[in-house]
Amino acid sequence: MHFATFDVESFLRDHWQKRPLLIRNPWADWVNPLEPDELAGLACEEGVESRLVVRKDDRLTVENGPLPEARFGALGSTPWTLLVQAVDHHAPDVAALIAPFRFVPDWRIDDIMVSYATDGGGVGPHYDQYDVFLIQGLGTRRWRVGPKCDSTTPLLPHEELRLIADFDATGEWVLEPGDILYVPPGYAHDGVATGDDCMTYSIGFRAPSRAELVEGWSEHCVDILPEEDRYADPDLMPQANPGEIGAAAVDRLHAMMIDALSDRAAFARWFGTSNSRSKYPDADWRPDLPVDEGAVGALLARGAPIVRNPACRFAFIRQADGLMLFVDGACFDCTGDTARLAERLCATATLALPPALAGSAPVSALLAALINSGAIAIDEAVA
Ligand code: SIN
Ligand code: CO
Repeated sequence: MHFATFDVESFLRDHWQKRPLLIRNPWADWVNPLEPDELAGLACEEGVESRLVVRKDDRLTVENGPLPEARFGALGSTPWTLLVQAVDHHAPDVAALIAPFRFVPDWRIDDIMVSYATDGGGVGPHYDQYDVFLIQGLGTRRWRVGPKCDSTTPLLPHEELRLIADFDATGEWVLEPGDILYVPPGYAHDGVATGDDCMTYSIGFRAPSRAELVEGWSEHCVDILPEEDRYADPDLMPQANPGEIGAAAVDRLHAMMIDALSDRAAFARWFGTSNSRSKYPDADWRPDLPVDEGAVGALLARGAPIVRNPACRFAFIRQADGLMLFVDGACFDCTGDTARLAERLCATATLALPPALAGSAPVSALLAALINSGAIAIDEAVA
């Protein structure tokens, strides 16, 4: 899937994180990548996060998956919508929808939620903390958008859905298959299916909150600080009022805390590792028997391509001599051949190695480790 008409530069300049945009079918040839039945099947599976939202007497009720197969038949004519998270982890054709959006770096991309709705179905007016591209896959949906909300926006009393109390839309569009609505963080939006068989693909993003960063990084730092690393005042002088916490003491305490958190290189390693952890422990690609680097080298020599597990997150951060490769919560220090391999692995989901890298022992060793952890596989059928 690729765009025939979409100006990335002007989108980033004028809309990304700024204001919503309706993009009328920009695809070269839009094909809905998943059948409604396949989505329903996923919602019945253990380990797949899904929700069923049913509208009854103008009230929305939520049921969490996995859903019994018979549930769909019992819904009758009342409007409902099914929402399934991280469908890209299970359906390669859905995962392929991410590629055209990689003008945003991978570490900012989360996963693809897919919804299916009957006429009138939807999740109600709400806002999300993240950017989202809402791709209309099948059928049509009326979207109403705006204004920008925040934590002071009044919400309706609803246990599971954060519904906006007085939603006043500033824009309204009916989306047809292939159309895309971009919604920046915080903008109110409400999509209602106009007709049955309405499928929407939400390309979701991630942006760590400051609270998550401070909490995660400081917890990590605390783990490696020894008990004896504490306040010391060998230069203590008598002070006029023993009840005062003096300015010099506050400076010293503040510096102790800031110094402990300020190691940029260690922060980069921690961030890359934690950001690459997958939200869902699914799609186990681990081989029945561990492979060794000799076997991997032999396959590479025959030109077999490497395939990434779509449920695993790959990213790298450069450092003075080489780079750190992050795969699913693990960090690998790479230099020379392994650094060149890591850059290629992070750039494309499927790759064949040039002979210089295919014949490198450290490359085979790293690939064997990644195969044994289930992050990649070698497509032997092509060898
Ligand atoms: C939907 O697909 O119905 C909801 C997507 C969203 O509003 O984020
Ligand atoms: Co939303």
